[in-house]
Amino acid sequence: MCLATGRSEATMDKTSKRKARPVILVHGGAWATPEGEREDHQKGVHRASLNGFETLLTGGSAVDAVQKAVEHMEADPTFNAGRGAVLNTHGNVQLDAAIMTGDGLRAGSVACVSGVLHAVALARAVMESSPHVMLVGDGALEFAREAGIETCEPGSLIVDRERERYAHAKRFMKPGQLDQLGGLASPADTVGAVACDADGHVAAATSTGGALLKLAGRVGDSPLIGSGLYADDRRGAASSTGYGEGIMSIVMAHRAVESLTKSVGPSEAAQQAVHVLESRTQGRGGIILVDSKGEIGFTFNTPCMAHAYIAEGMTKPDVGI
Ligand code: GLY
Repeated sequence: MCLATGRSEATMDKTSKRKARPVILVHGGAWATPEGEREDHQKGVHRASLNGFETLLTGGSAVDAVQKAVEHMEADPTFNAGRGAVLNTHGNVQLDAAIMTGDGLRAGSVACVSGVLHAVALARAVMESSPHVMLVGDGALEFAREAGIETCEPGSLIVDRERERYAHAKRFMKPGQLDQLGGLASPADTVGAVACDADGHVAAATSTGGALLKLAGRVGDSPLIGSGLYADDRRGAASSTGYGEGIMSIVMAHRAVESLTKSVGPSEAAQQAVHVLESRTQGRGGIILVDSKGEIGFTFNTPCMAHAYIAEGMTKPDVGI
């Protein structure tokens, strides 16, 4: 288990208008990331955090920053999101994603979507250009076309690594079943980001291909507001990762955000949430958090969770796995 706050590396901005320290924290999924894939995961989260941070520094809001960071990981075939996502029992990519801003508790979410690289952009369009919070399947794709979100051939999201994982899984796993390491051997994870901007607004985003060999139509925690992510300017924002069935049972992201108080900071809130995941559901995963002052915390009970954060005053992201 690993904890950090990042406070020591950051210098607080002295400008009086600032309500919070601009910061972004991203993760690339909590699982037993194979030795040979770890460097790519660390490089990917490093670049994603920089992309998001640049957005914050050039006047973008927290929600702009988390979208940008997650889009970067969706386009990077290293991760189980967008291009590079795991395959379901029929050998297809089916994506879930969500985005939420703590400014007005607005959220958008999509599930079981094929043929879109940036599912998080589609989730944002649901939030901003539809009267709803969540769209799924063909309806979500129809909305993507209407909203001008770029669509693609579903097969173009499949990479050789995942074709091989799928072929191996088909031989050794039953559809919908956990792998031999209880879900840890396959990237049943998510990519995610949380951010706080100088105005003290917080946001969270998630995107995932879900669980390897999942049943067609299975929806994980990632697009579920409260489970995969949550954001409330009064407290903070969180993004969860890991095998979704346990995360959903404890509504992990909302639980963690609600536990933020003057005396419980993001590190402790993250630790408590993962403790509940493990003790109540035997679940494995991780969570990243930011509070509305820009303090961060994260933890995981899996062998790895690639992560990176950068705050105002830092010269480069702090990266780990
Ligand atoms: N956390 C991703 C999923 O279980 O679908």
